[in-house]
Amino acid sequence: MRATQSTRPLVGTCSVPGDKSISHRAALLAALAPGTSRLRGFSPSGDCASTVAVLPALGARTGREGDDLVVTGPPDGPPTGDLGTLDCGRSGTTMRLLAGILAGLPVSATLTGDPQLLRRPMSRVTQPLRSMGAAVEPSPGGGAPITVHGGPLRGITYELPVASAQVKSAILLAGLRATGITTVIEATPTRDHTERLLAAMGARVSSAPGRVTLEASALEPFDATVPGDPSSAAFLLVAAALVPGSDITIQDVGLNPTRTGLLDALARMGAALEVEPVGRTAGGEPFGRIKVRHAALGATSVTPGEVPRLIDELPLVALAATQAEGTTEVRGAVELRVKESDRIGGLAAGLRALGGAVDELPDGLVVHGPTPLHGGTCDARGDHRLAMTFAVAGLIADGPVRVLGGDLVGDSFPGFERALAALRDGPS
Ligand code: S3P
Repeated sequence: MRATQSTRPLVGTCSVPGDKSISHRAALLAALAPGTSRLRGFSPSGDCASTVAVLPALGARTGREGDDLVVTGPPDGPPTGDLGTLDCGRSGTTMRLLAGILAGLPVSATLTGDPQLLRRPMSRVTQPLRSMGAAVEPSPGGGAPITVHGGPLRGITYELPVASAQVKSAILLAGLRATGITTVIEATPTRDHTERLLAAMGARVSSAPGRVTLEASALEPFDATVPGDPSSAAFLLVAAALVPGSDITIQDVGLNPTRTGLLDALARMGAALEVEPVGRTAGGEPFGRIKVRHAALGATSVTPGEVPRLIDELPLVALAATQAEGTTEVRGAVELRVKESDRIGGLAAGLRALGGAVDELPDGLVVHGPTPLHGGTCDARGDHRLAMTFAVAGLIADGPVRVLGGDLVGDSFPGFERALAALRDGPS
C-alpha cells in the first residue's frame, strides 16, 4: 500500500461500513434464536466473514441480501455432537465469543485460525468457562487452538482481571444456558454491545455500573440495523483533523459511549469536532453524525481508565500526537501488546521511521510533538489498524509512505482507500 502526501484537503460527506463488534455479536446471537433475523448494514469485514462462516456449525442458515445478513436459527434447537474444527480466521472476537457459546452446548469442537490468531492469549476465556463447568482448554502456552467439550453450566460471579469486552461477552453467552445467575464485574467499563443486543432479543439481563447480571434465557429473532463503525470512522476523522483545509461529515456512525473515547481525546487536543446524535437502533445502539475540520492540535494524556473506550483508536491518538504541540502520554494500555500485533512496538517503530519522536513504555507510549513527518517505509506487521494508521500518516508526510502488510485493511474496513480517495476528490 502506498500513501502520498495529500495535496488536497479531505472534503465531503460519507459513511463507513457497519460496526464490526456489533455485527459479530448480532450474527452469533441471531444463530441462537429460532426463526429469522435480519441484520441491516452488516459489517463487510473479513473478521465478520469469519463469524458468518462458523454459524452453520451452530445449526444456523445464513444469506446475504445486499448489505443485510439474514440468519435463521435452528428450529429444533442447537447442534449436538462433534462439530470438528472451526476456523476463526484472524478474528479474536469470533474465537472468544464462540468458545462462550459452545461451552454451554452438548458439543465438542476445536477452534483454530490463522497463525496470527494462534499467538493471542486465550486462557482469559478458557479459565472462566472452565469454572462454569465446561471442559475448555487452550493450547500449551495459553493460546489457540482451543478445544471445547461443552455441557451443563452453572452461573458464576466473575471479576474481569483484564478489561476485555470479549471475555465479558464469552461469559455472558455461556450464561445464556447456565443454571443460576451469571454476573460479570468490571472495574473499568468495556464496550456493552452484547448486553444491549441480549436485552433487545428478550434475554433476562440487567446492567448496573460495573456489573452485568444474566439468567438463562431463550432469544427471540430480531430485525436490527448495525450503525457505522466508529473504529473505522476514526481513520477518516483523524485524517481530516490533520490535513489542512479539511472539513468532513461522517453519517450514521455508532455513538455508544463505551466506544467514543477517541472523540473525547481529540476534543481535549483542540480538534474542531461536532457530534450530533440522531437516534437509536433497534439493537439499542445510539448513532449520529460526526463533523470534523482541520485545526491545530495540542498534547493530551490518555489515562488507564479511559483506555477501553478507545483501545482500537490508540494508534491514531499516537499519530495525531506527532502533530500536536507538547508531550502526549498513553498509559495503562498493555493490552495493545496482544492485539493483531504488538501495537505499541509496531507503532513506535512505524512512526519513528517517518520522523516521529516516540518513546515506548511497557504499557503505552510517549509522543513528543510536533514533528514534521517525512516519507519512509512502515511495517504494519500484518495488523489492519497499524496499516491504516500509517496510510493516514502518509497524507501528512512530505514524501511517499510505503506500508508493508497493508493488504489486510479488509479485516476491518474494506473500502478504506476508496473512502479516503473519495474525500480527497471532494464533493461530486
Ligand atoms: C472487541 C473488544 C476489544 C477490541 C477488539 C474488539 C470486541 O478487544 O480491541 O477489536 O468486539 O469485543 P478486548 O475485548 O480483547 O479488549
